[in-house]
Amino acid sequence: SLCYLDGLYTPLRDAKISVLDRGFIFGDGVYEVVPVYGGAPFCFEEHMARLDRSLAELRIANPLTREEWQAIAMRLVEASPAEQRAAVQALYIQVTRGVAPREHAMPQGLVPTVFVMLNPMKPVPDAVRTKGVACVSAQDFRWQKAHIKSTSLLGAVLARQISVEAGAAETIMFRGDWLSEASSSNVWVVKDGAVSGSPKDELVLAGIRYGLIERICGEAGIPFSLRRIARDEVFGADELLLSSATKEVLPVVTLDGQPIGTGRTGPIFQAIDAGYQRAKE
Ligand code: PDD
Repeated sequence: SLCYLDGLYTPLRDAKISVLDRGFIFGDGVYEVVPVYGGAPFCFEEHMARLDRSLAELRIANPLTREEWQAIAMRLVEASPAEQRAAVQALYIQVTRGVAPREHAMPQGLVPTVFVMLNPMKPVPDAVRTKGVACVSAQDFRWQKAHIKSTSLLGAVLARQISVEAGAAETIMFRGDWLSEASSSNVWVVKDGAVSGSPKDELVLAGIRYGLIERICGEAGIPFSLRRIARDEVFGADELLLSSATKEVLPVVTLDGQPIGTGRTGPIFQAIDAGYQRAKE
């Protein structure tokens, strides 16, 4: 498939970067994953705004304008096979600080490396979505700047592998006694018909789905709040949900082998999922 690298469109297999790219050497870069439904990027403006915030944290100037980002996305969509375009795709965007002799300090005047690819996205099968998934818990051993959507993802890789080895869908992480998020998704706790999520601070990556879920809850008359959530509240929830660009909204029915609520998909999940599916149209 076609990708975009530093101003050129090339087949993905031919795209090459320097070994001195700071993304490769230091993980000195940021990224975005944007779902594309029927050829249309979903919540593109929100993803672009978060890319700006991540780049600002790294003190990298956004190398492209909104129009240029949009044009790259559309060019890759148009170059993709019609049957993939008709289904769900994932647009991956990465910006690194660029190529320089290896030194930790930020070199000035580098040209950022820009890479964009579009891949088919395997949607979560309907059977899994209706049955719900199992998760495991772990201490959040990542760093203190989890709000940056950084390509330094070793913490996420190690955390995700814990659930892989337990045969579970995600690893839900706690900082001490407090819920943070999962290895590559946000976590929502449902109690007495109300939805709560972790505060948008530096300890979590506030997903683009934060805004969507808040809006859907508002429309459905479901109370919504962001607050610190203790471990007991997670295990004692009526329902537990995950959200991300690729998972959409997904019900969690067991955590560390213990059932959550009834141990089955619940009504708040169904209401939010219905709202989400409508928002995609
Ligand atoms: N991950 N938290 C973390 C740590 C994440 O990596 C992600 C997304 C989210 C959810 O954010 P959003 O709703 O904007 O997708 C939360 C992407 C999908 C990934 O790394 O592939």
